[in-house]
Amino acid sequence: MGQNITRKILGAHLVEGQMTPGSEISIRIDQTLTQDATGTMAYLAFENFGLKKVKTELSVSYVDHNTLQDGFENADDHEYLKTVAQKFGIYFSRPGNGICHQVHSERFAVPGKTLLGSDSHTPSSGALGMIAIGAGGMSVALAMAGQPFPLVMPQVINVRLTGSLMPGAAAKDVILELLRRMTVKGGVGKVIEYSGPGVLTLGIPERRTITNMGAELGLTTSLFPSDRITYEFMKNQGRENDWVELQADEDVAYDEQIELNLSEIEPLIAKPHLPDQVVKVRDLKDTSVQQVFIGSCTNSSYKDLAKAAFILNGKSVHPDVSLSIAPGSRQVFEMIARDGILQKLISSGARILESCCGPCIGAGQSPPSGGVSLRTSNRNFVGRSGTKDAQVFLASPEVAAASALTGRITDPRDLSGLDMAGLHQIQETNQVIVDDRMILAPPETGEHIEVRRGPNIKPMPLGKELTQEIKGEVLLKTGDHITTDDIMPAGTAILSLRSNIPAISEYVFSKMDRGFAQRAKEKNGGLIVAGENYGQGSSREHAALGPLYLGIKAVLAKSFARIHHDNLINYGILPLRFKNNTDYDRILPGDVLRIADVRQQVEKGSFLVENVTQGVTFEAIATLSERQKELILDGGQLNFIKKRTKA
Ligand code: F3S
Repeated sequence: MGQNITRKILGAHLVEGQMTPGSEISIRIDQTLTQDATGTMAYLAFENFGLKKVKTELSVSYVDHNTLQDGFENADDHEYLKTVAQKFGIYFSRPGNGICHQVHSERFAVPGKTLLGSDSHTPSSGALGMIAIGAGGMSVALAMAGQPFPLVMPQVINVRLTGSLMPGAAAKDVILELLRRMTVKGGVGKVIEYSGPGVLTLGIPERRTITNMGAELGLTTSLFPSDRITYEFMKNQGRENDWVELQADEDVAYDEQIELNLSEIEPLIAKPHLPDQVVKVRDLKDTSVQQVFIGSCTNSSYKDLAKAAFILNGKSVHPDVSLSIAPGSRQVFEMIARDGILQKLISSGARILESCCGPCIGAGQSPPSGGVSLRTSNRNFVGRSGTKDAQVFLASPEVAAASALTGRITDPRDLSGLDMAGLHQIQETNQVIVDDRMILAPPETGEHIEVRRGPNIKPMPLGKELTQEIKGEVLLKTGDHITTDDIMPAGTAILSLRSNIPAISEYVFSKMDRGFAQRAKEKNGGLIVAGENYGQGSSREHAALGPLYLGIKAVLAKSFARIHHDNLINYGILPLRFKNNTDYDRILPGDVLRIADVRQQVEKGSFLVENVTQGVTFEAIATLSERQKELILDGGQLNFIKKRTKA
């Protein structure tokens, strides 16, 4: 029996474990990436390990999330990130150079290698045939220290692509169609591997749009073969020597099979407030739009912007619409300027932003109250745009540009006078501008470098060794699908405090429960009770660090999103699941819960939880590997490593 690409790469990097779906394995990590919102914590953790240099083949620190400098905080962070990168042998992509996933795929991604990134859309680089996985900053810090990365061996789903996209349809519609079919939970514990004749009809930026939003399916990662399209892309980037071919063997078997005919896909759109609320664009054609944003790591390639410019060319943005555009990288920005695309965008009335995450993370361009924002980004959770009651829709750049002209959600095929054949012919440029001056290479040795720490850089809080009893109040009871945005909101004011945990912890759950932080402090910590898929969305580990600082000892949920589950363990917060979900219904906010003999129960993985207030007992479970049990007992990753370093 032949092997699929996933097993080939994982097998070549396997350090421990059996590659049977569901078993824990650990793999060697070749490359890491961080972005500024999670990077400061990753490097603060890394500094604790006492190493002179990272042990990976390549590590890159990007500044793309919070690039606005309207106070000293971000500037302090950027200085810290730059100097810590130089000290420890890490490449530093300066603010303005672009969004981590766009730049990484352009300049660093290599087929067949493994990449661990402290950003949930790290799987974007799977477009080039990498195993690229999103994780918390602590996991990335450990990978930089040369530690193998533990993960549960995923099932591999094959999505076989046939046909080719019709005029008006885009790569975004391919992944929206998969979200429609599989939902935001459908990919948990799985990898998608794309194959079939349709693959060769998609360029690397299109493949990247698809692998990028695999994160929204909950996948561990997704990847494409490395073929002649990959070779051409890397050659245009001056990196053909890094190319290797990667294909699944012919007689390969997959755990699951999905057929997708690209010719049958039509323009789709995700409605508020989840990316799987997908309908046809034409079904919403009378919906007014106040804001359009074209950008983010999902859709800000040269071809994306060239298509938008083709639609906008010679016309004006609707007077009731604000259109903003952020090119994904400085490379894309320079090339659209060279080729006259930027001029067409500006002339139409578009507002051009720098190459960064910007509106995607709620950093600028928030929609008006109650407004409708149509975005090419990947997430439309409540409040993520910076406006609590905004209605955010997700669609392709073609739909976004057409809607910016009409002021209504518009299928580009319905735009009168649009040359659909001309639009369809637009391709990625082969004349790529390669200029890495905004990427600072580290010096041979960093021993002489002094790390600069402004007042916004505070030490990382440490968890405490697990005691024999957990007892505390249910400080909050939430419903299903709580995102890391809900736990620790995005937005510039908050993000600028990401290196200052005492200050940022004041915002924990502030979107849904203003008094949470105060209550947690008054009660000396406590527990959180949650529904399904707790902690979905961004990999933001501040969603674990903030609660840790406030004294949260355990989260009791119906189920957890993978990265957040790992983050809780890394910081020593016990993630428990209800054995019977009916017990969730009985718990009331304010109930006092007690777990005795916790250390023994961690070893067993099953728990008896006493609801002291109601006088009842129920069962809970924790899915912890042997290593994770040790982490929880020690009070998190840093204590675990420190203890062993001392020993
Ligand atoms: Fe940035 Fe949004 Fe992507 S915050 S990394 S553009 S998901």
